[in-house]
Amino acid sequence: MRIDIVTCQPELLESPFAYSIVKRAQEKGLVAIHLHQLRDFAINKHGQIDDYVFGGGAGMVLRVEPIAACFDALLAQRTYDAVIYMTPDGQTLRQPHANRFSMAENLLILCGHYKGIDERIRQAYITHEISIGDYVLSGGELGAAVLVDTVVRLLPGVLGNEESALSDSFQDNLLAPPVYTRPAEWRGQAVPEILLSGNTPKIEAWRHDQAVERTRLRRPDLLDG
Ligand code: ADE
Repeated sequence: MRIDIVTCQPELLESPFAYSIVKRAQEKGLVAIHLHQLRDFAINKHGQIDDYVFGGGAGMVLRVEPIAACFDALLAQRTYDAVIYMTPDGQTLRQPHANRFSMAENLLILCGHYKGIDERIRQAYITHEISIGDYVLSGGELGAAVLVDTVVRLLPGVLGNEESALSDSFQDNLLAPPVYTRPAEWRGQAVPEILLSGNTPKIEAWRHDQAVERTRLRRPDLLDG
């Protein structure tokens, strides 16, 4: 998979991709992540990429020309399965989005800033608008980092069997059951005995019951669907 990310703050995205699973996925050649500085496509030598809002109002809006120039250069080289704009008014990111995007060969992600981007870019290029939650970030970069992490960990070969993505919370609309490791007793709290029994079918049944109970208590909305 190839992921291109267009941003005016690429530095914000360097460390999220430089550690742990996303780093390993890049080293294994399973994903290539390319950051593009929007200012390289500025409309003048001052590096201008934004402008005042037509009709008045506070804040600046990213202009069409730098984004279009950057996108056209990328689109001339390959087709993208999705052109994603990170924005608080997009669809809230959920596991099924990650599952679907993980099937893509090429993803293009645009990070907004300031008051957002000129609406005409959304009409002309954007196929998906994604929010990571009902709050406003200073820009789309942290959202893009979250989205990329959720997608990359699903790519075949990225996770080992032990960390299999299939047992993650949300993969089957259930939260994950509680987990324990050694020591078997700590400050008077013992690990549930069933987990030490070696009886795999019983352990699996216990885990499923715990997952359902935890979901019922914490996220009953997940069970409605
Ligand atoms: N940009 C600003 N706020 C955002 C959010 N909640 N999700 C994604 N991108 C954003």
